[in-house]
Amino acid sequence: MSGERESSNVMWGGRFQKPPHVAVQALNASIHFDKRLAFVDIAGSIAHARMLFRQGIIAQDDAERIIAGLQSVRTEIERGEMVFREDLEDVHMNIEHRLTELIGEAGGRLHTGRSRNDQVALDMHLYLREQVDAIHEEIRVFERVLIDVAEANLDVIIPGYTHLQRAQPVLFAHHLLAYVWMFERDCERLRDARKRIDALPLGAGALAGTTFPIDRAAVAEELGFDRIYENSMDAVSDRDYILETLSTLSLFMVHLSRLSEELILWNSTEFGFIELDDAFTTGSSIMPQKKNPDVAELARGKAGRVFGHLTGLLTVCKGLPLAYNKDLQEDKEGVFDAIDTVHLLLAVFPAMISTMGIKRERIKRALDGDFSAATDMADYLVRKGLPFRQAHEVVGRIVSVSIREGRALTDWSIDALRGESALFDDDVLAKLTPEAVVNARMSHGGTARERVLEQLATARARIGH
Ligand code: ARG
Repeated sequence: MSGERESSNVMWGGRFQKPPHVAVQALNASIHFDKRLAFVDIAGSIAHARMLFRQGIIAQDDAERIIAGLQSVRTEIERGEMVFREDLEDVHMNIEHRLTELIGEAGGRLHTGRSRNDQVALDMHLYLREQVDAIHEEIRVFERVLIDVAEANLDVIIPGYTHLQRAQPVLFAHHLLAYVWMFERDCERLRDARKRIDALPLGAGALAGTTFPIDRAAVAEELGFDRIYENSMDAVSDRDYILETLSTLSLFMVHLSRLSEELILWNSTEFGFIELDDAFTTGSSIMPQKKNPDVAELARGKAGRVFGHLTGLLTVCKGLPLAYNKDLQEDKEGVFDAIDTVHLLLAVFPAMISTMGIKRERIKRALDGDFSAATDMADYLVRKGLPFRQAHEVVGRIVSVSIREGRALTDWSIDALRGESALFDDDVLAKLTPEAVVNARMSHGGTARERVLEQLATARARIGH
């Protein structure tokens, strides 16, 4: 019976009388998602084989055959010729099986001194290191676009909000740069997470180490790892580095989602501050007038998906005894999907931001007649000696009269203002224009043009742009 179909118990068959039930095979198999680890798996195996030979654990001709064979398997995969089989369970057994088909018995020596537990951990470290570096670069590209758009629109003043109520006007550039700093922190967190990814788990064996005289330092060196796991049990059961990556990607998604929410608001008829380019919006199948900001909405929605992957893996890990448990196979799909999601979004956002139209006239009109200069009116009275609380009271009254009578702060005559406080002088009205209000905020990190120019320079220096 067991000879009827070849299955993964080709690999561990000695003890088994039957192949797994077909439904078990489907449940157990990870090949449909872990095949993306094929290239790092081969790189890890080549380094392992070289080390086995150098340590005198396998013969030179076996090592040579294994390495050449693994290179052929890699070529087959690149050409799309490799057939991945579910009955061979995962990427490790598929590659080893194909290697043995190609080179015969020597293929069976590759797995000496190694287990799939340390092998899969190695693959995930190699893969995540690559991906974290790639995402870091993609975020940097996006930051550069945000900086360029900020700089190109330095003269644009928009209302700044708290509680989504008009608060104080700010430079549009200042608003965009706020996101650059968020994304910079994400980059910093990625670099930090990378430090924990950059450790070699191979050599841990199944959990306890190996009886062969392996040289872990040499493998670490060949694969470019900064460190080696000091404890074999920790090496095969650690998934912290995946959780850290997911948590960093989750925070990145928080930031991207907040930016998306702003784009959606700004692109609405109600705000009308920007117009997203046709290439980044979609129409409605029923309402011909509509241009929907789907990209931003999808980013906002996909944030939930990435957070879900973080929560999912935290939950998988929380009750596991040492060392490897098959539960840990569940570490992959979530982080793969999170990585794909982030790549997909970062392929779109820079172009969407650099092509969006900024509706300057409309933005200017939005600021006309609003009360976002009220703080400055109060600050004016404070400079004349009035305690801030009293100044707040006086201006509060002026605002309330203005609203009742339908006029702006700048519509008041000096005489009328003097009726509210004798401290007002002719120079007050000039301090209430949006430009004056913005440029008065000269504190470090403030929105004054001069400060924003400095901020731009600091941001450019930080990211090398
Ligand atoms: N496909 C497995 C995983 O991703 C590889 C490790 C399997 N180890 C084992 N002892 N069954 O976790």
